[in-house]
Amino acid sequence: MSVEKITLEDPLDMHCHWRQGAMLNKMVPLSAKIFAGAMGMPNTNPPIFSLEDILEYKRAVEAAIHFEDNFQPYYTAYFQPNMSKEYLKAIKPHILSIKFYPKGKTHNSEYGCSPHDPGVLESLSNMEELEIPASVHGEADGFCMRREYLFGSIYEQWATMFPKLKIIMEHISDRRTLQLLVKFPNIFATVTPQHALFNLDAVLGGKLNPHMFWMPILKEPEDQEAILNAIMGINGLACVKHKLMLGTDSAPHPVDQKECACGCAGVFNASITLQLLAKPFFDSGKVEQYKMFTSGNAKEIYGITPPKKTVVLERVPSVVPDRVGVTVVPMLAGHTLEWSITEIRA
Ligand code: NCD
Ligand code: ZN
Ligand code: ZN
Repeated sequence: MSVEKITLEDPLDMHCHWRQGAMLNKMVPLSAKIFAGAMGMPNTNPPIFSLEDILEYKRAVEAAIHFEDNFQPYYTAYFQPNMSKEYLKAIKPHILSIKFYPKGKTHNSEYGCSPHDPGVLESLSNMEELEIPASVHGEADGFCMRREYLFGSIYEQWATMFPKLKIIMEHISDRRTLQLLVKFPNIFATVTPQHALFNLDAVLGGKLNPHMFWMPILKEPEDQEAILNAIMGINGLACVKHKLMLGTDSAPHPVDQKECACGCAGVFNASITLQLLAKPFFDSGKVEQYKMFTSGNAKEIYGITPPKKTVVLERVPSVVPDRVGVTVVPMLAGHTLEWSITEIRA
């Protein structure tokens, strides 16, 4: 019997964290190996604010790419109130979007702001005029399981006030958020493998598992199921299937900052995501939709043409390593995945 197989062209990861320094030098080659392009988030330490910060970050990322991997990194800048048109014009050629962090709601978001701060609407209005998309970590104050839902009214306000602004709801986690994709033509979203395949039980349902702890927190089984159905384009949400892009939210932290009493949110998963999601898409007969979710939709939404890369996945088991580098424990460390990457042509 022949092996079951999926061939992906130019897979893209539209939300990942490479960090800086030694971690960046480890992470960038891992993205570059299996993706044709990936978008690095700006919540580095220090964060990426100015044109100089962006150019310096670009140099560091590009120096870490192995030429033969044929990989296009994409960049973001950290949202600030009152961003002038001059500033936005200067950074626009170097970035794909600007990332809004609600202050204090996730890792390195202390430099972020409240959606109600003065100057936020001014920035969004200038971004709309200059056609720079807004990538948004959409969580508001309140109980952690409801924070994304509570941010929904902000998404509605922004999408209505700025109808030409592309708003990317990053790493969506709540089934109610999906309705915003139906309602607003200018709202899009990234989806992570963890929010599509797991629920809060993976974090708290047995022994406490910090290696499944992200912000937004994994939610109820109904949320997970609705998100998985949406990316596969089934169960009534087929009308939004072209608006959803893969964004792994791969977010490495050294193990001592995960396995401690106040563990950081975020886990490394970039190297296992394509294998993990292969199973539900293949088993549901949605391979064409898998190609759109992992590449075609992002190309269309961001208007990008990444370099050519072919990634072949086969239903042969692979074991997730215990560690990536010295300090990073990946998502599902030590677990056996049903699918493997068996060939990469760059
Ligand atoms: C991310 C990180 O560690 O930078 N963590 C996370 O839990 N998602 C930040 C983010 O994307 O919100
Ligand atoms: Zn986030
Ligand atoms: Zn993230």
